[in-house]
Amino acid sequence: MLSKQDNELLCRVGPGTPMGELMREYWIPACASNELKPDGPPMRLLLLNEKLLAFRDTNGRVGIVDHQCAHRCASLFFGRNEGNGIRCVYHGWKFDVNGNCLDMPNVPPGHSFADRVKIKAYKTFEHNGLVWVYMGKREKAPILPSLEPMFLPTDEVEVGFVQRDCNWLQGLEGEIDTSHYAFLHLGSVKEDDVAPDSMHKFALRNRAPEYYTAETEWGTMYAAHRPAEAGELFMRYAHFLFPFFTMVPDGSFDDHIVFNAWVPMDDEHTMATYVVWKKRTLALRELKDGRPIPGLEQYNTVPYLPNSADWYGRFRPELNASNDYKINREAQRTSSYSGLPSLGIQDQAIIESMGPIVDRSKEHLALSDRMISVTRRRLLSAVKAYGSTGELPPGVDNPTSYHGARSGSFVARDGEGWMEMYSSQLINAKRAFSEVDLDPNHLSHAAQ
Ligand code: FES
Ligand SMILES: [Fe+2]
Repeated sequence: MLSKQDNELLCRVGPGTPMGELMREYWIPACASNELKPDGPPMRLLLLNEKLLAFRDTNGRVGIVDHQCAHRCASLFFGRNEGNGIRCVYHGWKFDVNGNCLDMPNVPPGHSFADRVKIKAYKTFEHNGLVWVYMGKREKAPILPSLEPMFLPTDEVEVGFVQRDCNWLQGLEGEIDTSHYAFLHLGSVKEDDVAPDSMHKFALRNRAPEYYTAETEWGTMYAAHRPAEAGELFMRYAHFLFPFFTMVPDGSFDDHIVFNAWVPMDDEHTMATYVVWKKRTLALRELKDGRPIPGLEQYNTVPYLPNSADWYGRFRPELNASNDYKINREAQRTSSYSGLPSLGIQDQAIIESMGPIVDRSKEHLALSDRMISVTRRRLLSAVKAYGSTGELPPGVDNPTSYHGARSGSFVARDGEGWMEMYSSQLINAKRAFSEVDLDPNHLSHAAQ
C-alpha cells in the first residue's frame, strides 16, 4: 500500500509536479515517425499534461509545439502546414518547428514584431521509427536513453502503440507484476498441455514462484525462480528503467530485445509504446498439439478503432471499457481463464478496471508484489531527492547505466547466486550495443 500523498507524488506528471519535472529531464517517445508527413495535417499530441501539436515541415523536420497560436491563442491544429511552417488560419501568423514567428501578415508594414514572438517548441529527434521529444529546461539536451533496442538496425525493429486509459504508473506496474501471467493469461493451461521440452512448463507446474529483487544502476530488477528439472531452476528476469521503461521476459534470454515505455499523456491516460526486435524468440504461444492457447488465439493483436484527430484519438483498442472488452463468459466457464480475448486486451481490461488512478492505500500487497514495492520505493526516493537537492535520476547524464539490462527466461543450474546466473547469461548473449550515435546535439542528427 501507499499513502495518498506518496501516490499523488508518483502519479501526477503535469508541469511543475515533482514527477513531471523528473520525467522532463529525459527524452520521451512522442509518436511514430510515419504519423507525420511533410506538409501533412498537424497532429494533436498530449504529453505530460501538455496540449501540443506535432507536424512535419516541407523539409521533413518535425516540430512539437504548443498547440495555441501566440497571437490570440487559437489552436494551430486548424493551421496550414506549408512552406516550412504552420500558419494559423485565424489571422495568418506563421511559426516554424523551432517556434519562431516567421510572418505576421495581418499587421501593416513596419508594425510586425514577429522577431519578438515565439511559441513553445520542444527539441525533437527521430530514431528507428519513433519521434522523441525533449521537454526539459536544458539548452543543450541530454543524449537519448541508451536502452539496448535503440542500438538495433532500423529494419529489425518493430514499433507499436496502445493507448491505455489510466495513469502511467498503473500501466508500468502491470508489466512488472509477473505473477499474473500464470493466471490472467495462462490460467487454463496445464503443464501437460505444452510441449515437454518447453521451459514454460515449469511456470505452469508452479504458479507461486519466489522472487529476488534488487535496486540497480538503471532502476530495479527481479528474478522469479522456481524448480525446473532436478538440480535446475527456471529463472525469469525483468527490469524497470528510469523514468518509465520496462523490459519484460517475453522469450528466451539470448534472443529477445525489447523495451516498453509507459508515456504519460496526462494523469489518466498513457501511451504504451513498445520497441521489439522482430527476430526475437517468443514466449509460450501454443499448446503442444499446435492449437493456440485458449484466450490467446489473437496473441498480441489488438484491433484498433480508426485513429481520430482527438487528443485521445490515437491507437485505441476496439475492445474497451465501453463494451466490457467483449468478455466471453462462456469461454471463461469452459476454456479461457479470463474470457477476455487476446493477451493485450487481458492486460488492458484488468489495469483499466482499477480506475484512472488507483487508490493504492486500499491495496494488500503480498510476497509476489515485491518488485512493485521495490520499484515504488526507488521511484519515491528518486523523486524526493530530485525535488530537494536536484539529484539527477539514472540514465540522464550517464547513459551507459542502462547497458546492464536485458529481460528473458532461462533454465540454470541451481547453486549459483541469481545475479551470477544473470551475469553469465548476459556475457554469453548477443548484445546490440554498437556505434549508433544517440546524441541529438551532433550536427548530423539535429532535427532542429
Ligand atoms: S490567433 Fe493565430 S493568427 Fe491570430
Ligand atoms: Fe500481462
